[in-house]
Amino acid sequence: MKAKVAHRTATPQAGIFALGTASHSYIELDGKAGVDPLRLVRAVANLREPRTTMGGVNLVAGFRPEHWRTVASGDAPAHLTGFEHDLVGAGGFKMPATQHDAVLWICGSEYDVVFDVARQAIAALAPIAAVAEETSSWPYHHDRDLTGFIDGTENPSLIDAPDIALIAEPKPGAGGSVLLLQKWPHDATRWESEPIARQEAVIGRTKPDSVQLDPLPDDSHVAKNDQDVFGKIFRRNMPFGTVTAHGTMFVGFCSDQEPLQAMLESMAGVRDGVRDALTYYTEPITGAYYFVPSLDAIRGFVDPEPGF
Ligand code: HEM
Repeated sequence: MKAKVAHRTATPQAGIFALGTASHSYIELDGKAGVDPLRLVRAVANLREPRTTMGGVNLVAGFRPEHWRTVASGDAPAHLTGFEHDLVGAGGFKMPATQHDAVLWICGSEYDVVFDVARQAIAALAPIAAVAEETSSWPYHHDRDLTGFIDGTENPSLIDAPDIALIAEPKPGAGGSVLLLQKWPHDATRWESEPIARQEAVIGRTKPDSVQLDPLPDDSHVAKNDQDVFGKIFRRNMPFGTVTAHGTMFVGFCSDQEPLQAMLESMAGVRDGVRDALTYYTEPITGAYYFVPSLDAIRGFVDPEPGF
């Protein structure tokens, strides 16, 4: 009699779903000239091994989609591309493309361990990759962004989030996710000079308790990102910055690039010429797509004799 073979599901990188952590560091890196993608993927894969202490923090690692396809062609999602061209919308509004080769999102309960682990990771990768962009983030009044509104109301629950964020079996890249990472500094002076009623019309929700407006203004942020139209995504946005210069780190996961890209085009007014009202108070200064492979897929690149 044949033994039953269990259908194995690839394990995702758990940090994607680790809500409630108080300190975050996003580090985007570029491989040094002449370093091939395989060395970079191996080096990042090795960051997880015990010789690099990951004491009490979560690491989520992602790669330039084209790099991942080069090293793991059979296990790369079809059609996923990097953010290679600026997205230009109504009236010349621009979302810049600032694609890098890899991203590390390190988060934990205290900034000191996040800081230490981020520095260790950067040092371990230094022979082959350099930091191109770094951002430190922290939650603001539990679940608000720096507009003062609750951010994440329409996010799926943690029960549903994996179905929305992760590529399903048996597709190539199963257990992995598409990450859109964008840094949006706010024009706080402009925003804060608006009356609450205008702010609510811009977001499309009430400020104290995030109730959706009825009627919903067509150019409101919620209307421009209607998940019933574009498909569902899982957001892990975080405030970033200092007292005088700050904004929102948009961290959006999806099993497919299409909803994320369609939302950006909608916000920029690419098709209907109507920009998301929120883009008059904040504009992105970075934009990159990364493929965040499953833990199993990354483990396949761990080098038993590291020497990058
Ligand atoms: C400065 C940048 C941004 C800020 C401050 C921001 C803030 C918010 C807030 C306050 C809400 C309403 C509550 C909620 O459901 O979470 C919201 C909803 C949403 N945002 Fe954003 N957001 C930003 C950028 C983006 C971007 C770049 C995307 C897409 C690529 C996006 C996608 C969404 C979606 C899908 C919703 C839920 C819409 C629905 O009700 O179905 N946001 N955002």
